[in-house]
Amino acid sequence: MTTLDPWGAVKIDNYSKLFDEFGISKFDELLAKIPNPHRYMRRHVIFGHRSYDSVLEAMLSGKPFAAMSGFMPSGKAHLGHKMVMEEIIWHQQQGGDVFLAIADMEAHAVRGKSWKECRELGINEYILSAIALGLEPGAHIYFQSKFNPVRDLSFELGIRANFSELSAIYGFSGETNVSHMVSALTQSADILHPQLKEFGGPKPVVIPVGSDQDPHIRLTRGLAYKTNMFLVEERAAGHISIRGKAAPKEALQEIAKRTGGKLYEEHVDILILNLTLSEVESIVREVELKYGGYAFMPPASTYHKFMTGLQGGKMSSSIPESYIALTDKPEDGAKKVMRAITGGRVTLEEQKKLGGEPDKCSVYELLVYHLLEDDNELLEVYKDCVGGTRVCGNCKKFTAEFMKNFLKEHQEKRELARDRLNDFGLK
Ligand code: TRP
Ligand code: SF4
Repeated sequence: MTTLDPWGAVKIDNYSKLFDEFGISKFDELLAKIPNPHRYMRRHVIFGHRSYDSVLEAMLSGKPFAAMSGFMPSGKAHLGHKMVMEEIIWHQQQGGDVFLAIADMEAHAVRGKSWKECRELGINEYILSAIALGLEPGAHIYFQSKFNPVRDLSFELGIRANFSELSAIYGFSGETNVSHMVSALTQSADILHPQLKEFGGPKPVVIPVGSDQDPHIRLTRGLAYKTNMFLVEERAAGHISIRGKAAPKEALQEIAKRTGGKLYEEHVDILILNLTLSEVESIVREVELKYGGYAFMPPASTYHKFMTGLQGGKMSSSIPESYIALTDKPEDGAKKVMRAITGGRVTLEEQKKLGGEPDKCSVYELLVYHLLEDDNELLEVYKDCVGGTRVCGNCKKFTAEFMKNFLKEHQEKRELARDRLNDFGLK
């Protein structure tokens, strides 16, 4: 007997390479520890992470943590953007400090959008929807071009990045315009700036992204590490070594003193008796800050799967029928659902005999990702579909109705959000 898998629409097969080749960890391992896990967590839409344990630990023990993301204001905000917005909002609800960049420098340099357009799209598409979805004041929302802490940091990070590395990640060539390269570093600065002193100093910060975004995360983790004054490594069991990469002598001395480690010419050797690795790391960060370093922690990340396009294949902003925008007219959104590809069989008889295939159904995906919050209700849909008692026509109508209502309510909330921009320091 095959077991029911209501999350089948988000099959992991295509993603296993990420675990093996790139060292992304499985999110499942953390799931049980998470209080009120988000629907994307419960349903394994979020399937992987890098050092999310650090974020979770802070969340559980009431220590500072943050979540950050950015949107390039180049077109319409759609259900894919909604996923990231929800993830950020969820972290704010769990007590995190949250940061949202409007990547106008990127849109200007890479997509040729005028500053005026960037401003309008930034507010009208992304910010209003994020607020409508539940972002609360206290969130730091900013436009890159107007935000000096990020611009200054990106210049600083640029010292640690070179053309070869950036071109390997972003595919830059000799023809790439220089501001495009600058905008890549600006993204790294977006990610690291919540850890600047003026924002409360080093802390776990999570960047929720789609799985194709991992190269940016790796770059930024590399930059964080390169700016660190010290290299902390766990050696043979019970042994930690701390090397000063660009640290003053006194700083290393201070670390030796505070950890009770043995001071050598260029490193400190610690036998762990009373201190854990993370306690040693936290002492090292304090000393680094005192001596003028950043002491960045590598940013954490979570990886979510993508929805398939409503017509099969990928969602693409150049194919309006493949996605639903948050500002689509409710009736149009419903129509897109009615025209979407399902996992239904060719004939009704076959459907009754074999059941549908929700795992291959973009309509079912809408329910999993966006429209049905209750896991039991979703399980019912799944069972009825594979059992052959649910037919696609009705199922699409059911889903289209949900979509219409969601869009209608969302758009009403967007209008209310317009009056609240002030509360977010905007306008
Ligand atoms: N480059 C991202 C995009 O194309 C936008 C972005 C800018 C971003 N800064 C970021 C995403 C920081 C995550 C974190 O949409
Ligand atoms: Fe998809 Fe619904 Fe048809 Fe099942 S019945 S294949 S979930 S549209």
